[in-house]
Amino acid sequence: MCGIVGYVGDKQAQDVVIEGLRRLEYRGYDSAGVALVNDGSVAWAKRAGKLANLEKVLAESPLPGSTTGIGHTRWATHGAPNDTNAHPHLGNHGRVALVHNGIIENFAELRSEVEAAGDELRSETDTEIAAHLIETALAAGGTLTGAMQQVCSRLEGAFTLVAVDAEDPSRVVAARRNSPLVVGIGEGENFIGSDVAAFIEHTREALELGQDQIVTITREGVEVIGFDGRPAEGTRYHVDWDLSAAEKDGFDWFMRKEIFEQPRAIADALLGRHDAEGRLQLDEVRISDDELREVDKIIIIACGTAFYAGLVAKYAIEHWTRVPCEVELAHEFRYRDPILTRSTLVVAISQSGETADTLMAIRHARQQRSKVLAICNTNGSTIPRESDAVIYTHAGPEIGVASTKGFITQMIAAYLLGLYLAQVRGTSYADEIARVVGELRDMPGHVQRILDGADDLYALAAELEGARSVLFLGRHVGFPIALEGALKLKELAYLHAEGFAAGELKHGPIALIEPGLPVFCVVPPRGRDQLHDKMVSAIQEIRARGARTIVMVEDDDHGIEEFADTIIRLPRVSTLLQPVPAVVPLQLFACELATRLGHDVDQPRNLAKSVTVE
Ligand code: F6R
Repeated sequence: MCGIVGYVGDKQAQDVVIEGLRRLEYRGYDSAGVALVNDGSVAWAKRAGKLANLEKVLAESPLPGSTTGIGHTRWATHGAPNDTNAHPHLGNHGRVALVHNGIIENFAELRSEVEAAGDELRSETDTEIAAHLIETALAAGGTLTGAMQQVCSRLEGAFTLVAVDAEDPSRVVAARRNSPLVVGIGEGENFIGSDVAAFIEHTREALELGQDQIVTITREGVEVIGFDGRPAEGTRYHVDWDLSAAEKDGFDWFMRKEIFEQPRAIADALLGRHDAEGRLQLDEVRISDDELREVDKIIIIACGTAFYAGLVAKYAIEHWTRVPCEVELAHEFRYRDPILTRSTLVVAISQSGETADTLMAIRHARQQRSKVLAICNTNGSTIPRESDAVIYTHAGPEIGVASTKGFITQMIAAYLLGLYLAQVRGTSYADEIARVVGELRDMPGHVQRILDGADDLYALAAELEGARSVLFLGRHVGFPIALEGALKLKELAYLHAEGFAAGELKHGPIALIEPGLPVFCVVPPRGRDQLHDKMVSAIQEIRARGARTIVMVEDDDHGIEEFADTIIRLPRVSTLLQPVPAVVPLQLFACELATRLGHDVDQPRNLAKSVTVE
């Protein structure tokens, strides 16, 4: 949700900033802009639409050379996604240029103040008001850092701000509250980014900032203070992935690359989490075993695809631990006044670690004294920082807007959590836990087998290119997979798609079935006989009404062929783990269908990768 970049050093700032924006474009692509400090003034360019539009403008009318600059790629909140509302925004006299991610909630009141002072506002954005306020503070004397500090202490909401001052080319100043910001530490140059992808090709040394902190970068160094002006410190870390992880590597889309990375991502998610006997060790869990034994209820909170990982987790965690487990959409959670106690464990699942709805939900849970454990992919992001414990999913950077390897590793982490709780609480036998861990270790191979058959899924996408609507059916843990298959198709192919629990069919949705309607059906393994047979009956019922059935069923499960127009074979795994291989054909299908329909798979319309506003 908006990508921001800042640079000061000895390179051409425009090149560094544009390259950084390219790597952050997944965060928002409604408009893009850049501002450079040159010879006592700010030179800028901005354009609605994707970064390519801005690059075209810059190629036609190049900005003057500069080694200090900032840039922005936008997901619109205040004001339409047009040229005027694009960032950067300037102060009244064009001395300060500012880019912003987030929402300034008290902007209406500040706008009146700025207008009363006689300033002329050009855009409808909240950002422009902050630019005016910073410029006014700067005009009274002092540095950009001081002006930023004065203004930030007056702002309400969630924001990251990055600014330059025409009269001081030596510094770029940034501030953060409840919104992501990292600093890249180079030699004779320093960087600012919404995440490390912004500068990964220049440095892998990073500094994470705390809440309500301001950072000033110069060529020589980095200085951090709090909004209260007191010296503060960020946390240094080394980024353990390199540029290749942020590139497409020969794939047409990041999403397709990330689907194919899943065997490795699963292996990494499991790495170091168990000993040779299959006994689990989760070292980032800073909640004592005694506290885990006292847990009497688990509430999983998440949004979108991460919520579906939570639904899968519920089945597994309840089965292994016998602790009641609820799953809630994070944005609904705190508004319904949930019952939370000290013995409630809240599990927040978030790929980005920045989803505002999930963040607000965990804050609410912690205020009620519940313990919070995050399952997260992004090191040092806000949700794990504000949690009592974290299980990192280690999927590597996920750049495609639609979550794939993020989702699969969320499920792996949730299984690990369930098994760990079962181990600590003694609700499953050690050999049972070791058997499941062994099965999890086989998952990279199973997923690879599905990927090896990708061409069949692509052929299916070609056949179904004209479909106007697609349904997905599942039972038990196959139900969240049906929901996820439908979500992928909605967000990428812009098709009407719905996922249903197959048992619900006769209570209404069966009325949707008409001749030729494609329906994906996830058949549970035969281990759960009743479930399996009931699913087979549902397939017969919809086939009898003319549906085109695409049946996902495990190897050696025969007898369904006569009711299936297409069969997709899944490896034999135990029921609770079936979502891991079963989601992969649906990802491949959605990616291919959207590609055939000519959509931008990595940047679907109206979406952004991390939703940092509520
Ligand atoms: C869909 C998708 C979204 C996210 C959701 C939560 O493909 O990616 O539904 O899953 O916005 O995001 P995180 O996991 O970053 O909290």
